[in-house]
Amino acid sequence: MSAPLETNQPAHLSLGNADVDLPRVEATAGGSGVSIANLLAKTGTVTVDPGFMNTAACTSDITFIDGAKGILRYRGYPIEQLAEHSSFLEVAYLLIHGELPTLPELEQFVERIDRHMYLPEDFREILSIQPRSSHPMAMLGAAIQTMACFYPESMDPLNPAAVELATVLLLAKMPTIVSYIHRRAAGHALLYPMRGEGYIRNFARMTFADPGEVVDLPDALVDALDTLLILHADHEQNCSTSTVRLVGSAQANLYSSISAGVAALSGPLHGGANEAVLEMLALIRDSGRDVKTFMTRVKDKQDGAKLMGFGHRVYKNYDPRAAIVKRSADKVLAALGVTDELLDIAREVEGIALQDDYFVQRKLYPNVDFYTGIIYRALGFPSSMFTPLFAFGRLPGWIAQWREMMADPTTKIGRPRQIYVGHALRDFVPITDR
Ligand code: CMC
Repeated sequence: MSAPLETNQPAHLSLGNADVDLPRVEATAGGSGVSIANLLAKTGTVTVDPGFMNTAACTSDITFIDGAKGILRYRGYPIEQLAEHSSFLEVAYLLIHGELPTLPELEQFVERIDRHMYLPEDFREILSIQPRSSHPMAMLGAAIQTMACFYPESMDPLNPAAVELATVLLLAKMPTIVSYIHRRAAGHALLYPMRGEGYIRNFARMTFADPGEVVDLPDALVDALDTLLILHADHEQNCSTSTVRLVGSAQANLYSSISAGVAALSGPLHGGANEAVLEMLALIRDSGRDVKTFMTRVKDKQDGAKLMGFGHRVYKNYDPRAAIVKRSADKVLAALGVTDELLDIAREVEGIALQDDYFVQRKLYPNVDFYTGIIYRALGFPSSMFTPLFAFGRLPGWIAQWREMMADPTTKIGRPRQIYVGHALRDFVPITDR
């Protein structure tokens, strides 16, 4: 990647007979940009950038990533500090409201969420009519969209009180919905949230306890979940977040926008990668643990094989989240008394990849998904639940980004241009003449 331009002069573009100044948009950290917003009006020309490799769709105060140095910060705070010292709901508050809460602010936020964790019975019944074999991400997207039917008073995207209510309801219902999706697939009854039990502990109990059972879940399990959710809480303009913003830019309500984000996250190149990583590691184990042959298949791009959990559009260095997850994987497995051959295979794969020219030259390092699934598996989740857990973690980021976009006076409905490359004008041919 080339170094950022060291100038505050506008860029200047000559195109045919037109000379255009492209005003700079300054960053507080990382690379600044130039605005091409007036290019079409002045030159009749648009820019082309498949995959938005070079296009900033917005300015944002929320998350900073330096992909070359492997830095991630929420609202300026390093992810390492937040993972170590904060809690998921405190991070959610930070992302959504911009500052770390004071103690009374946090207590009020947590108490309000705690009060709303319960799911109405009719809501539960709607989820119950879906086949048990449904993929959990399909169920999650549908459940979030269903919230729009149950809470119409929180749907107006232009009413701050309604948006605040939708924010609280989404954060409050998410653990209950995700635990229910998990239990339903296994044929178990839904457990109810318990007031005052704590957000993550409530989620873990609703997910893993038997009905009527008093469980004492290990702190290691609750802490590991809290940390993983923090690590996933935001990641600036990734595919699902951009989807949430794009849908929201049409002034669709928060539930519809987040549900669209869930759909985007389900793809194996995005949130679905954590599930794909475990499938890949299991495949290596079941085919005689021949890591080298598998790596050769990947490098030869046989059948489109990829090393899942490796590579990132932005990180061209070790993903800082992967470093934290890797460190905690050992700790969590030891605390829970779990051994996992897949963790050994993952380490072996990583060791080979970090020395191999193919991966080194392309700057392909483990991303957050590489070790995440191993921890979720140790906690007792089936791999189909990994991506819903990613969505659970990403929820505050989606909400924060949607709210930032709605509050930004420069926001316009998202509507990319295209370069038409189809047939030029031609006349209709009657069917008998074709
Ligand atoms: N295994 C093997 N080769 C890879 C991989 C990989 N995981 N990722 C990229 N490459 C190769 C790719 O084939 C290309 O090679 P060449 O130059 O010979 O054509 C080169 O590296 C550049 O890759 P790219 O596809 O142009 O990079 P991208 O920025 O478009 O894609 C990515 C980023 C994350 C989609 C991709 O690295 C990938 O598919 N990784 C595996 C899936 C994965 O782990 N996704 C989770 C991402 S982190 C969590 C999240 O954001 O959801």
